Amino acid sequence: MADFIKRAAEDIARAKNIVALTGAGISVESGIPPFRGKGGIWEKFDPMEYAHIDAFLSNPAKVWQVLVKALIDVIGRAKPNDAHTGLARLERMGKLTTVITQNVDGLHQAAGNTDVIEYHGSFARLRCLACRTRCESATAELSRIPPRCACGGILRPECIFFGEMIAPEHLMRSGKAAGACDLMLVVGTSAVVYPAAGIPEIARNAGAKVIEINPEKTELTGSISDYLIRGPAGRVMQQVLEQLERLLQVR
Ligand code: OAD
Repeated sequence: MADFIKRAAEDIARAKNIVALTGAGISVESGIPPFRGKGGIWEKFDPMEYAHIDAFLSNPAKVWQVLVKALIDVIGRAKPNDAHTGLARLERMGKLTTVITQNVDGLHQAAGNTDVIEYHGSFARLRCLACRTRCESATAELSRIPPRCACGGILRPECIFFGEMIAPEHLMRSGKAAGACDLMLVVGTSAVVYPAAGIPEIARNAGAKVIEINPEKTELTGSISDYLIRGPAGRVMQQVLEQLERLLQVR
């Protein structure tokens, strides 16, 4: 691993426009469970029963009760970890421009990144199914399930359920950022859910280096990514940044 940490620090030192693509794994060290793998949410719940838009619309109370409320609670307690703050430091250093995240937890913004594309939406906001008024999850009245808007309509989280389209502006901005970067950091994603999983390939086809940080191999390893740094994102990012700062001091 030490060799890859050094190599990543050197690649980052050379890079001028880094874009990060992140997934659930980056927030594991903040206490938010991933979707797949050991302890993953989809180990306990069938996504088609709880995360498909048709499931939500046919029984919003069930989806709120089992999944949405629990996730809003766990996200509400979570704080950014060293991987989130590492990406924010890379932005402050003038290296990283954009974070494209599949996560709905708002932790990149909490860490200080200013250009965050929330590809799968956010749990920070709710929207009324009837009048489309928005409100903040943190201040919404969630004791009654499903929660309701002042107009009486049912509130939904402003995330993308399976069966829904990614917002066109997110598709466009992500494609543009991926096509313009010279280095993409792919952190904590299994890269199995499209179209997000196709973003590293856009970067690679445009000539960027693609570095993965993940304790496990993914669909990108050995094909799309140049190399994988195996380990938990917080620890890896901290080591990469220490090495990078040493390198930049020497220069
Ligand atoms: P997954 O749950 O599919 O994958 C999590 C990844 O994080 C796996 O590759 C793990 O090996 C890795 N991982 C686990 N712990 C880690 C750690 N400490 N540090 C770094 N990586 C770690 O999550 P996503 O790829 O984000 O979509 O899933 C993509 C989409 O599938 C989600 O956005 C969600 C889900 O269904 C929707 O809800 C639309």
